[in-house]
Amino acid sequence: MTLLQNLESRLATALETILGEPTTPNIAPAADLRFGDYQSNTAMVLAKRQKTNPRALAQQILDALEIDGLATVKIDGPGFLNFTILPEAYASYAESLLKDPRLGAPEPGKGQRIVIDFSAPNVAKPMHVGHIRSTIIGDSLSRIARFLGYDVIADNHIGDWGTQFGMILHGWKNLLSQEALAADPIKELVRVYREVNSATKDDPSVLETCKAELVKLQAGDAENLAIWEKCIEVSKLGLQKIYDKLDVKFDHWLGESYYNDMLPGLVDEFLEKGLARESNGAICVFSDESKPEKQDPFKVHRESGWMDNPTIIRKADGGYLYATTDLATVKYRIDEWQADQIWYVVGVPQELHFRQIFEAAERWGKSGNFQHIAFGSILGEDRKLMKTRSGDNVGLTDVLEEAVERAAKVISEKNPDLSGAEAAEVSEIVGIGAVKFAELSQNRLTDYVFAWDRMLALQGDTAPYLQYSNVRIRSIFRKLNEEFDATSAKIILEKPEEIHLARLLARFGEVVPLVLEDFRPNLLTNYLLELARAFHSYFEACPVLKSEEPTKSSRLALCELSSKVLEQGLGLLGIRCPERM
Ligand code: ARG
Repeated sequence: MTLLQNLESRLATALETILGEPTTPNIAPAADLRFGDYQSNTAMVLAKRQKTNPRALAQQILDALEIDGLATVKIDGPGFLNFTILPEAYASYAESLLKDPRLGAPEPGKGQRIVIDFSAPNVAKPMHVGHIRSTIIGDSLSRIARFLGYDVIADNHIGDWGTQFGMILHGWKNLLSQEALAADPIKELVRVYREVNSATKDDPSVLETCKAELVKLQAGDAENLAIWEKCIEVSKLGLQKIYDKLDVKFDHWLGESYYNDMLPGLVDEFLEKGLARESNGAICVFSDESKPEKQDPFKVHRESGWMDNPTIIRKADGGYLYATTDLATVKYRIDEWQADQIWYVVGVPQELHFRQIFEAAERWGKSGNFQHIAFGSILGEDRKLMKTRSGDNVGLTDVLEEAVERAAKVISEKNPDLSGAEAAEVSEIVGIGAVKFAELSQNRLTDYVFAWDRMLALQGDTAPYLQYSNVRIRSIFRKLNEEFDATSAKIILEKPEEIHLARLLARFGEVVPLVLEDFRPNLLTNYLLELARAFHSYFEACPVLKSEEPTKSSRLALCELSSKVLEQGLGLLGIRCPERM
């Protein structure tokens, strides 16, 4: 139980005593520490409802409240209850956290299943920096949801079926180098795709040939199917390498093609149930006119006023679309996987697509808690969309390689004594950690500027700073040179820096669930930075190894807990911690 939950339940008991019925109190961390650690406006809210004096009600609550040994409480202003946790309460809470592998975090997700759809690159197209955002944010949200007790299914809905295969098939048959394919399959497929793509621009007959290849594939032509399968297979191997480097795992890879067989039946069902109708030969889902136009994803405003904005689920030529597949996917996830929630970590440009899918699915009776967790673009340091010098989108692999190289430089300057093998491993952990942290510390909806020096700085709001803070703590224990059992230590908090550190450590279990309220990993990154700063102030003000017992053990125990929270917190962001750097 977190301290906040503890205060909440005591307040609830007091309210029930006074009001004679169960009442949920409001209480939150205080915005300003001068007022205390936690603040409740419950007396004001209730007094308004009952038309009584808020300060008098606050006093009544205070009189009924059992809080001895935990906090002091003051009534402030118009009727706020301000709670200051006692240092001994922080101390014993910190002791309990050292024995708790969950570090105080609750498990609100017990019994709930969430499917998280993230990463989902398109086969034979390079995974670009935009996919970084989906992969990193999605992976972190999956880790956090799992930690909070949710049963998470991470599903990589790769784009393994689509019009690009017309070009790839044509390229495979005419331009492919088997050697290059063996060396780097994604690179070779992308090269072939690009070459065909530009050929279609010069010569329209090439486009026709590609279309014919696609039609053959869709009709089940054996040769084309075999090539397609081979493409998927090698692409998956290539992608897997990137995921291994990023330490990202999926439970399933049910790509778009997995749903192909379900599409004809789906369209028939939509027609039978009156959920879709024909329009110019295509089958479309239209507005059901139940919403104000502004909120209706099937309406769009044009010069002449509000117009229909249907989603097509079968083209006039019989082809199916991205939307059809996504509807089949919703059904599968709800019927087969019994998902209570489905989260899609996909960029802002697909917002309308998801609003349409969610509404069509609801009308179809496939309701769940759907979330489109959108994000903005990544910009280069010139604030334009990030491109390489040749004007291409930057591939994810290039970014990761460069991150590791740059980290190696930073580390060799900082600690030239690390051995070659260890230095290489640490560079990997630091470089990739830096990229992930830079991503996760942004407000996901804003475009963010990718700046190497800023994300790798050892002093700054970065992963290397947090990793380095943890390394400093680990080095204290190396210097100690004897076993230390933090779980049996007695913690004594005297100096303000010690109390503040304990206060922040106690917040870990409160902060993590907040991340999922609005899918904002940056709440956790901010918390960890604040914690690391508090640790450094503590370490400056409170000598650890040079102090006498019982202070020494107490301080060592706080160091241990700080390290645990940093490692666990970074772990939830998908970032590892080196022992040394
Ligand atoms: N492959 C798509 C893209 O790269 C993303 C797929 C997202 N997931 C989904 N169920 N639509 O744009």
